[in-house]
Amino acid sequence: MKKVAIFASGNGSNFQALAEASLRKELNADICLLVCDQPEAYVVKRARHLGIPVFSFRAKEYPSKEAFENEIALELAKRGVEWIILAGYMRLIGSTLLNRYRNRIVNIHPSLLPAFPGKDAIGQALDAGVKVTGVTIHFVDEGMDTGPIIAQQSVNILAEDTRETLQKKIQAVEHELYPKTINELLDE
Ligand code: GAR
Repeated sequence: MKKVAIFASGNGSNFQALAEASLRKELNADICLLVCDQPEAYVVKRARHLGIPVFSFRAKEYPSKEAFENEIALELAKRGVEWIILAGYMRLIGSTLLNRYRNRIVNIHPSLLPAFPGKDAIGQALDAGVKVTGVTIHFVDEGMDTGPIIAQQSVNILAEDTRETLQKKIQAVEHELYPKTINELLDE
């Protein structure tokens, strides 16, 4: 089984879905580490509860992205991590990690990319008035949500949808699609 680290910044519902799939033996990956740039985030509590090791840090305590990514890279190397799975990690990955993990970093984004990259993709879709949005899983490159697309699934926006209902529908799709896509990817 491939060793993976999950990177997250916030609530961690995707982290939880992946960890639960792993507990059910339905994930073809060994989650060795959670990397989190917000030590108070709820995802850190989730990891501790599940007994998954955590490396958390505050970016502002380092002189540069290179400095904290070097430390992350050491933590990953120590555990033999082969793939990086971003699950709501709200930072651009820099060249330190990209060079070490080229084509082995994946991200999930709550829109049908290339539509609505960046922050608040769900709000952007609602503001634009589109009738269909969705979820994209893609390889990570230097850009913001720009790397090659691996999988997508659409979600209809109904007239009665609010931010909350749409977010719920999108996250339900994410929690199914991410473990399934990772399994396909890591089986290759
Ligand atoms: C997810 O919806 C994910 O697609 C999104 O952040 C959310 C994290 O939720 N990621 C991005 O917007 C990346 N640009 P979670 O913390 O509950 O998994």
